[in-house]
Amino acid sequence: MKSFDIAVIAGDGTGPEVVNEAIKVLKALESENLKFNFNYFDFGGERYLRTGETLPETAVQELKKHNAILLGAIGHPKVQPGILEKGILLNLRFQLDQYINLRPVKLYPNVETPLKDKTPKDIDFVVIRENTEGLYAGAGGFLKKGTKNEVAIQESINTYMGVERCIRYAYEYTQKRNKLNKLMLCGKTNVLTYAFDLWKRVFEQVGKEFPKVIQDYGHVDAVCMWMVKNPENFDVIVTDNMFGDIITDLGAMIQGGMGIAAGGNINPNGVSMFEPIGGSAPKYTGQNVINPIAAIMAGEMMLRFLDCNQDADRVEKSVVHVLTKHIKSMSAGKMGYSTTEVGDLVVKNL
Ligand code: IPM
Ligand code: MN
Repeated sequence: MKSFDIAVIAGDGTGPEVVNEAIKVLKALESENLKFNFNYFDFGGERYLRTGETLPETAVQELKKHNAILLGAIGHPKVQPGILEKGILLNLRFQLDQYINLRPVKLYPNVETPLKDKTPKDIDFVVIRENTEGLYAGAGGFLKKGTKNEVAIQESINTYMGVERCIRYAYEYTQKRNKLNKLMLCGKTNVLTYAFDLWKRVFEQVGKEFPKVIQDYGHVDAVCMWMVKNPENFDVIVTDNMFGDIITDLGAMIQGGMGIAAGGNINPNGVSMFEPIGGSAPKYTGQNVINPIAAIMAGEMMLRFLDCNQDADRVEKSVVHVLTKHIKSMSAGKMGYSTTEVGDLVVKNL
């Protein structure tokens, strides 16, 4: 009997609607051998507007008592950009030391990609984004703010420890995935000659321990180009926080958009957090039209991290069935079904 305590942060906008469908699917998997206890946390824009608090002091301690976290979306039109993102999402990633952001880029059958002549066999790779350092670390500041002599500095922090653990995870992941056995470091060694010098050295050094994994390197601008031109050449890409943020939005688009893209904020020795990578989509809130597949797939990723691979397989197969036989488009309002109906279809086909 496996029993898991799952913290749910449904968040803002359409977050609660999509998370509900993911939970519906997880509940449908429950049996004598599998049980979930969901605990709900109301962190998000509404709570912030009401209380002035992003995360209460006890939040991290409470979340740490769970086996995993399922997150909807954070972002509220009435809250100035940065407050909720830094105060909740980044804060949790940092405090829970979720140093890997794992983002599969996989085109499922019958899902439309904007890439001409590319099919599911061409688009199936994984981006491993460092998730606690780089430009996101918050190092820097202003001098003479508000004057014509203003200086704004935003520094990229790259520690040996942070880079090494991310790269090691990436090699291990590539080896385990066993597809092309190819790991590409995505950087910018021709300009960022300090940060990516460290990344490249560590990449080569750790690579010696993984002789079966082919090492590859690409500058981030070229990686963007190839993601569009030859996505079939990628297997696993490892990169820093900022580049990872950017290339995974490109990745989400070529796999069919934000309606399907899911990711995991992973602490391999702690509590991980799974999320649809799209935002809170305020304009669709409460209309029951948003696509819940990304949230359902975040649940699928969570199952794999909880070592419930057979259950994850069932979810994935059901999603593929629903995508092939039912859903007309990945876009909100154009699916041919409501949000809750899509969740019901996935449950029915498990
Ligand atoms: C993401 C998001 C976040 C990021 C924002 C909301 C802070 O874009 O998860 O990719 O930049 O990491
Ligand atoms: Mn992003």
